[in-house]
Amino acid sequence: MTEAPYLPPRVPSARATVPPSLLDPGTERDPHPLYRTLRGDFPLVYDEPFGAWLISRYADVRAALADPRLVAPSPGPAVARRTDGAPGGHRALLSPALRGRALAALESGVERTAYVLARRLASRREADLVAEFCQWLPAAAAVAALGLPYEDTARVHAWCRTGLDHLGGHRPGLDAYLRPHVARRRAHPGDDLLSALCAARTDGRPLPEEDVTGLAGAVLGAAGETTARALASFLANLLDHPGQLDLIRTRPELTGGAWAESLRRDPPLQIVSRRALEPIGPIPEGATVACLLGAAGRDPARFADPDRYDAFRADPGELAYGSGPHSCLGAPLARLTAEHGLRALLTVLPDVRRAPGPRPPAEGLISRSPRTLPVRLR
Ligand code: HEM
Repeated sequence: MTEAPYLPPRVPSARATVPPSLLDPGTERDPHPLYRTLRGDFPLVYDEPFGAWLISRYADVRAALADPRLVAPSPGPAVARRTDGAPGGHRALLSPALRGRALAALESGVERTAYVLARRLASRREADLVAEFCQWLPAAAAVAALGLPYEDTARVHAWCRTGLDHLGGHRPGLDAYLRPHVARRRAHPGDDLLSALCAARTDGRPLPEEDVTGLAGAVLGAAGETTARALASFLANLLDHPGQLDLIRTRPELTGGAWAESLRRDPPLQIVSRRALEPIGPIPEGATVACLLGAAGRDPARFADPDRYDAFRADPGELAYGSGPHSCLGAPLARLTAEHGLRALLTVLPDVRRAPGPRPPAEGLISRSPRTLPVRLR
């Protein structure tokens, strides 16, 4: 970590002497007032009720995520544990199936699914894009990446909603579902992620089955829930700015920037946790450190007019996918999902707009997005 977290506040405030907490009432509804106070007055502070040291400024969050003395709290399967903090291990296993030729092979499936989902809404007057679009498209993309049958998407959907768990979780139902697929891939490997995990060896031996199913489950959680939330915020931001949306409609090459800007302003993962391997300044060994991606994305020292959604912002930063040794492996798939999702919606449902009535706010402290997105389609 740089020295930055130990600098005095940028704008010393006479008011803020008692550190606020992430668990203060109202924070979950709107964390941004708290984020402002933290960035200004308490850039590195222990949040006793939350049980973690909070880091909120963009430069500090970036430095903390790259700091080898701060590790992910539960690396999970042996292959991830052995290589924790170093590029290799589980990352070397997972990443070839999520980029390059493998990613290109997934693209037509994601595009097709986006159109199927959009067409299902075509005869409707109103819809909830979260429940009927955002949750399904990333789940189908994750199912395709793992090489599981498309028709199992509905079944796998529930496991896609667990979120990123640092490769540590085991889900008995999912393990049972995956076992026959694992056996088949061991016998007849393909180009998909599950085959890559089955073909992997540690200490000259294949990965134990529970590591294969654990990593596959982690990918479903990381890919499904996080991308679904990001997609909901992305569509909400664009629907709130019809002028920007119209420009993107005619110039689809601007979609990538609009997606990155939404991730900056409204990252689906607001908090990424780390554990200190040794004392770092005031942070004791073993302490939990919470890197506040949501606060970093709106740091006025890094972004002009940070609360504004500007699809054409020149440099929206890149912290929503994390940074350093654990940075997201699925960013290209997520972006592709967003691009095809938006294109399908605008093509099939050209009149899509916010439904009248109050706008459902974003919710959630750690994972954050609107839980519904009611729209008019005609
Ligand atoms: C907009 C969508 C997404 C966002 C914002 C996102 C965000 C993140 C973040 C912040 C991390 C770092 C966590 C940490 O440092 O502890 C991460 C890690 C990870 N993500 Fe994503 N993610 C997204 C989509 C995906 C997709 C589609 C996949 C897979 C298909 C994926 C797979 C992973 C994996 C495997 C890791 C763990 C990497 C490691 O620990 O080495 N993510 N993601």
